[in-house]
Formats: sequence, C-alpha cells, structure tokens
Amino acid sequence: MCGIVGAVGLANCGDTLLDALRRLEYRGYDSAGIVTHNGAGFEITRSIGKLASLDSLIRKNPLSGDVGIGHTRWATHGGVSEANAHPHIAAERVVIVHNGIIENHRQLRARLEQEGHLFSSDTDSEVLAHLFVEAFDAGLSLTEATKSVLAAIEGAYAFAALVLDHRDMLIVARNASPLAIGLGDDASFIGSDAIALAHLTRRVIYLKDNDFAFVTAEGAAVFDAKGTPVNREEVIVAASQGLVDKGGYRHFMEKEIHEQPDAIAHSLAAMTGADGRISAPMSRDQLHDITGIVMLAAGTSHYASLVARYWIEGLARVPVTCEIASEYRYRKPVTSSFSTAIAISQSGESLDTLMAMRHAGENDLQTIGLVNVPGSTIAREADAVMPTRAGPEIGVASTKAFTAQLTVLISFAVALAEVKGAITPQRADEIQAQIQAMPGLVGKALTSFDAIRPIAHDLASARSALFLGRDVLFPLALEGALKLKELSYIHAEGFASGEMKHGPIALIEDALPVVAMLAADEVLGKAASNLREASARGGRIILLTEEKAVAEVDFAESVITVPNVDPLLAPILLAVPAQILAYLTAVEKGTDVDQPRNLAKSVTVE
Ligand code: M6R
Repeated sequence: MCGIVGAVGLANCGDTLLDALRRLEYRGYDSAGIVTHNGAGFEITRSIGKLASLDSLIRKNPLSGDVGIGHTRWATHGGVSEANAHPHIAAERVVIVHNGIIENHRQLRARLEQEGHLFSSDTDSEVLAHLFVEAFDAGLSLTEATKSVLAAIEGAYAFAALVLDHRDMLIVARNASPLAIGLGDDASFIGSDAIALAHLTRRVIYLKDNDFAFVTAEGAAVFDAKGTPVNREEVIVAASQGLVDKGGYRHFMEKEIHEQPDAIAHSLAAMTGADGRISAPMSRDQLHDITGIVMLAAGTSHYASLVARYWIEGLARVPVTCEIASEYRYRKPVTSSFSTAIAISQSGESLDTLMAMRHAGENDLQTIGLVNVPGSTIAREADAVMPTRAGPEIGVASTKAFTAQLTVLISFAVALAEVKGAITPQRADEIQAQIQAMPGLVGKALTSFDAIRPIAHDLASARSALFLGRDVLFPLALEGALKLKELSYIHAEGFASGEMKHGPIALIEDALPVVAMLAADEVLGKAASNLREASARGGRIILLTEEKAVAEVDFAESVITVPNVDPLLAPILLAVPAQILAYLTAVEKGTDVDQPRNLAKSVTVE
C-alpha cells in the first residue's frame, strides 16, 4: 500500500527520505517520488519501478532543502506512470503525497477544472493539492484552509502537504489510513508507520481519525476535525533499526520463515501466565462472558480464523463464525448472537478489517484485536488486544505472522475451554504441552528446504495446482494455495478433500500437482481415500504430512514429513512446508518474492 514519509528541520533531507521509503518497500509499490523545498522552490524527482530508479535519478540531481515529503505509490486511480507518481504539485505552490482514496475526487476535479485548475495526473490524490491552492486563493489561513480541504473530501486518507510560502512545516491529516509523526531532537518526521521512522526516532504521535496537524522541526500542533487544538499522547515505539534487514538471507520471506520458532515462542510468552500456564490476556470473568465469536479478517489472517473456528468450537463449545472482512458490514449481518468480535490482522491496518471491527463495535460486540503491530490502528481501537509477537513482517506474503496467529488462537481456545469447563484438565494439559513444544517442532520442520527443492523445481513448470485438506487442515489447504498463487503466479485452488467428488475432481488431469495436507487424525482414512481418487485420475500427489501418517498414502509421488504432533496442532506445523514449497517455487520462477506483482503488504483501501 502507498507509503508516506516526510521530514522537517533536517539539512538536505532527500537522502533521509529515500532511506525512510526503503523501509516502506515491504508495503508494495509501483512508483515513487520525493520533493524538497530548497528555500526558493520545489525540487521534485519521481520514477516508476523500484526505488533503485529513484535513487539513481537523485544521485544525478541531488535534492537540497531541509523539508520534504516522499511517497511510494501502489496504483489505484490512474495507471503506473511518472505523471501519476506522487508527489503532486498544483500551481507550483502546494505539493502533496497521499495514501487512501478520495472517493468524491471526480466531482471535486470537475469543479476545480471549471475554475481553471490544470491537472497533470489521472489520480484522485491530485485534487488535494488543488483544493489547498483554492483555499489559499480565497485568503484562508493555514488552519482554515486545512479545515476546508478536509470538509471537502470523502473517503479514507492520510496525506502530507508542503506549501511554498510555509517552508518550515508540513501539513498532515488522516482518516482511517495510518499516519505517524516522529519527534526528533532538532527535526520532526512523518511516516505511514513507525517502521519508516525507526532509524530516526522512537518518539511517535499517532493521529486519530479526522485529526490534522502542523509539523515543524520543534514538534507537532494537532487539531481535531473542528480545528480545536488537542493533545495526542507521545508513545515510545519498540521498532528498532536492526529488525528490518534480511539478516544474510536471500529474501525477507526466507528469513521470516526461519524466524517462526522465535515468533511462536515470543507470541506464546504473551499468552503465558505467571504460573507458566497458557492463558489469555483477559480475566476469567471476561472469558466466561464470551458466548459467541465473530472473527473478522482478510487473506491469510482469514485462513487463521478458519483454523481457529475448529479449535474454539471443538474445544470450548463456543459458536464461531468467520467473516471475510470486506464482506461483513455491507451484508448487514445479524450480530445479536455474538458477544465478541476478534479482528485478526498482522498489520493492524487492513482497512477492510478495521471497518468490520468498527461495525461490530457499533453493534455492541466487545472487540478484541489480534495484531502483530502494537501501535496499529486496530490495536489502538479494539477494546482489548491479544498480540502476536512475530516482529516486523516485511515479505508481502505472510508467514511467521500466520503461525504466530495460530499459536495465539490455539492458546486462546484452550484458555476459553478451561474457563467454560468444556475440556478435561488432562486434555488441557496435553494440548498445553504440545503448544509449548511448538517452537522446537517448527524448528525441525524447517529442515525440509533441501527435500522440497526438487518438488518446487517441478512445480514451477505447472500451470495449475490443487491443495487439499480435511477438517482442521482444510483452511491450511486454502492458505497453501494462496501462498503459491501470490508468490509464483501459478493458478492454485484449495479444497476440502471430501468436497472433491462433488465437482472439483473434474479438474484432475494427467500430472496435475495435488498438494495434500494430512494428519493422523480421525478423518485420516477418509482423507487418504479422497487422495486415492485424485491419484487414480492422474493427479500427482505431493504429500505434506506427519511421520506417522505417511504409510496411509503409499501412492504419493513426493512426501515431505514434519514431526508427529497432536492432530489439532498439525496446521501450525504443516504450514511450514507449505510456505517453503511456495517460496522455493517462486525462487525457481524468478518472481519478485518479497514484493509480488500487484500486491501490497498492508492494504489500507477498501
Ligand atoms: O495485515 P493483515 O493480516 O490484515 O493482512 C491481510 C491480508 O492482506 C494478508 O494476509 C494477505 O493476504 C497476504 N498477502 C497473504 O500472504
């Protein structure tokens, strides 16, 4: 998703802004640009493609000035072109960068063009710069001009503006899209998230929805939508510079796959009470009051919720429904049968998930944010937070965040089951022991890289693949298929194994790769029969399973095993070979592993 950075009060800030943009690369982008104010006018450089192109342009023509803004753009309105890349200048007087969507941009643009404003891009964002010019032409002060711009626009946005006649400040505002202000000793900064600023400062102010602020070298003056000065708390963020490099791995994704034992262990620590037992970060009474749960999430986080439904309903006997966040509020759901909404999001910024959580809150559900980024909007707005502690996830494809989410969710399910008296103490102890063993078991599952390499080599030439799983492994089949398609662009679909005979089996043709997830659970025999049917029709079975289930599928063409585990926890362990398979296939194909085409890490538009 688009990234915004800015600095004020920092001599020759161009390089610093470029550095900050590099830290936002993980969000995904297709063009980038930086503008500075040199005291006399704006110096702007924009380029399509990767930041390396912008870098080489800046090397040829260094940017001077101690105030500036930068942007990485992920195209929404208007194609990928230099003209559509941010920053956008109006009348050589106001320059802006913007993240989000100005929903009423067409009407605004038509009006402004009639008034004589000349636009130079196809973007929705450019109207912001022209609205500022219009307001200044009308003689409005900075505050009044900003209020009038905010009153005119509809939609989700975070933006920063630099005004020719006010070179000592940045104007920033946000509604739904994230924006952080970083406070340094002699300079101030802005960023779409604190990671962008981590090398500059850890002192951060998060704006609330509809806030705007004037950011100077000395700090930030923040106002609410009415223009009333407000005090927004300064927080110290945990992100540190060292957390966002590849650590010797070829890709962030490869590093993050390897970080899973740590990510799980840290997340588990957040779910472990003083007595060493796994619990949830809420009181027994709060747990007791949970009578029905709606899970709200997107993409991989949604698949984590689907796994959790098996766990929570199976162990705690509490009803759960899982909603694709972007569908939830628009279908006017009946909320009365649920007490609680759990919004699951790695970034804590997915706008679909945030909006769904707000909708649940407005309908009197207690909201719990299960997020990986502590200061994120979902974390700040939820009634309670269950954190994953996976550390910054930079690869666009979610890996360690997913297994950390599963770890927290199984821990929550057991804690809930214990409070509800739905599980025997002996079964609770068994599961607790298996959860505690998970970092070590995942470490063992990581040793399968070499065994998976030749399978990935073959898979790279396939046009299509199926992923099958049954029971708690069905959602993992969906996740495995998502990983393969988003990384290697191979068409892949996940199905419940038992559903194959109701239609999808027609897709099986000679040598079609069928990636099967299997555990030694109560549906092992049935799941194996479903695979036999696929194999008999020419499907090439690639089996991901625990050691004790291998014998059941002696017709598999390739087998990757993970250590034996309680079947309930098999999704955590089998996620690892599924991720490695997708990763190595993408490496074989030479795709952009960390930033796959058309994708963004954190999707802050609906
Ligand atoms: O940050 P979130 O967990 O809210 O993100 C949700 C999805 O956008 C995300 O999981 C996406 O599907 C990933 N590309 C999956 O690898």
